[in-house]
Amino acid sequence: MQKKELLYEGKGKKLYTTDDKELLISEFKDDLTAFNAQKKGNEKGKGELNCKISTQLFNLLTKEGVQTHLVKTLDDNSQLVKKVSIIPIEVVVRNIATGSLTKRLGIKEGTVLPLTLVEFYYKDDALGDPLINDEHCLVLNIVKNRADLQKLRELGTKINDILKPFFADRDLKLVDFKVEFGVDKDGNILLADEISPDSCRFWDATTNEKLDKDRFRQGIGEVKVAYEEVLKRILKA
Ligand code: TMP
Ligand code: ASP
Repeated sequence: MQKKELLYEGKGKKLYTTDDKELLISEFKDDLTAFNAQKKGNEKGKGELNCKISTQLFNLLTKEGVQTHLVKTLDDNSQLVKKVSIIPIEVVVRNIATGSLTKRLGIKEGTVLPLTLVEFYYKDDALGDPLINDEHCLVLNIVKNRADLQKLRELGTKINDILKPFFADRDLKLVDFKVEFGVDKDGNILLADEISPDSCRFWDATTNEKLDKDRFRQGIGEVKVAYEEVLKRILKA
């Protein structure tokens, strides 16, 4: 499958059209951004690592019954994916308090949450991706109805229920993560975008060392060495 035109360039990936109008090529970039792209960086090979990690996790989720946009990997940093219309909601799922949750609500960093917390953020860079509730989603007309919101919440929770024990087995705490969904031509809601250390927080289960993009956000070390470690643990026999 050949790349045709560049359809869209996001912060982490480029999307290309192909000969098949229902399929796109998603190419993972080496760029790193944080804080609404006010902080920028780049590490050669980061895109490849995210592509490999995301492919492994999407394949695992598919096996467990989650429908995704992934068709197959094409090479080290690109995937063939189904064309979907992205729902502009970042679904964030949290197990342990950190990041914006601690800032917004004053919950102590590292607190294990008493339940799986699912949050919706409006995917709009100009507005800084604000936290929104169900009614905001309906007012903004970004989902059809409450049933779709319930579906997104259930999918977020299901993905967490699959990934959390998978990572626990690999001595990693899945602290929180962000997922995005899209609607395909038949109206199915598919997991889209990526699941990688750019979009998740992973802490080493023993040392609590951060093995995700917080290293870049907080300037505490290279990301590549950490992402390599995450991939190594995912691939463990
Ligand atoms: P937060 O604590 O900054 O709200 O982030 C929650 C989770 O969502 C964390 O795993 C990082 C991820 N995330 C993204 O993937 N993209 C974003 O733009 C933001 C703000 C967070
Ligand atoms: N929203 C951030 C950015 O601009 C990403 C992040 O902090 O995860 O790239």
